[in-house]
Amino acid sequence: MASFDGRYAFIADWYDTNAALTRKYQLFYYPKDSTVEMFDIKNKRVFLKRSKCEELRLHDLHIGAVVNIHSRQLTIKDYADISTSNRLKSKNEKTFAMVKPDAINEVGTIIDIIYQNGFSICNMKSAVLSRQEAEEFYEEHVGKPFFNNLISFITSGPVLAMELMAENSVTLWRSLLGPTDSRDARTNKPSTIRARFGFDNTKNACHGSDSDRSANREIDFFFKANAERRTTARVSNSTLCIIKPHSVKEGVAGKILKNIQDNGFYLNALEMFHLEIINAEEFFEVYKGVVHEYNKMVDELCSGPCIAIEIFGEGDVHKTFRDFVGPSDPEIAKHLRPHTLRANFGVDKVRNAVHCTDLPDDAALEVEYFFHILKQ
Ligand code: RTP
Ligand code: MG
Repeated sequence: MASFDGRYAFIADWYDTNAALTRKYQLFYYPKDSTVEMFDIKNKRVFLKRSKCEELRLHDLHIGAVVNIHSRQLTIKDYADISTSNRLKSKNEKTFAMVKPDAINEVGTIIDIIYQNGFSICNMKSAVLSRQEAEEFYEEHVGKPFFNNLISFITSGPVLAMELMAENSVTLWRSLLGPTDSRDARTNKPSTIRARFGFDNTKNACHGSDSDRSANREIDFFFKANAERRTTARVSNSTLCIIKPHSVKEGVAGKILKNIQDNGFYLNALEMFHLEIINAEEFFEVYKGVVHEYNKMVDELCSGPCIAIEIFGEGDVHKTFRDFVGPSDPEIAKHLRPHTLRANFGVDKVRNAVHCTDLPDDAALEVEYFFHILKQ
């Protein structure tokens, strides 16, 4: 599509904690000079004069997206005019993907395939489904001969649920999956995900929505505000890793996860979060007044979605994982520890690819913070 210099218009909500109410705005985005403007719908007045917002990209603005504008966290609820809807609707098609229990040790590679094929990942969450939840999720298959097998399989271990976005995402994701039966896929579509990571016609690595309608239902099943799914976090013998927003934006989260899995660590729990400034400040509190970059670290951590991971491993996992992450400054890491995560994926001291728990005593607290406290 030729580039468009005009303005895009959205309806955005902001939850005002002081007044304990949700305020509604029209949000205008001008790609030509990366500026934004906000109009308060209820009070019918300009709320934010047109001003620069360099870090915001058009790509970040889609229905359901959480964006930070001048330290306010807004949720995009809708397109506010026909022209914006016409321009973005088909580009921003959503689908639902799920890594099934048989392929959970391949999530890094699978997420990398997802990014390599031009998808954005808008949301992700690991979960263990109860039988009742699985029956609800697969309601269209109730009564079919394979139903019982399917439910036993899908509840046999953790799954990773993901909301994906791309042009034609429903069709694109299903074509990457390949035929339902992995044996058939190996014969006829050997490069597909089911051919590479699945086993047979039940254990077939991943799920993909079969229509727009299913996609909406399945995304809601996992990600609607009140959709409580059982966390896979165990908070024992584990440590916390956060893939920072800059790495998520660069599309290298799959490569980082693959690296972690290839080095013998297990991903107990995985979830995408959009942190508000107040959460980032609280989480990094111990670095305040100690680390010179504290303010920049806080800004980076809430500049976009991050991925929190509970890491499990043999022995002293906190120490071995920290060694594997490497020195906090990627420049130093590149020279002294070239095989570490930060040497490979870090950009500078603030954008150093990942956070990992520093002090052994904080590991359980940090895992708790993401997988229990923030979720409330
Ligand atoms: P999915 O929903 O998981 O993306 O797979 P699909 O559309 O390709 O296949 P579908 O017909 O919707 O079946 C859902 C899942 O049920 C299991 N299955 N077992 N004959 C069998 O034993 C059989 N057929 C299907 C598979 O796990 C399939 O993905
Ligand atoms: Mg299906």
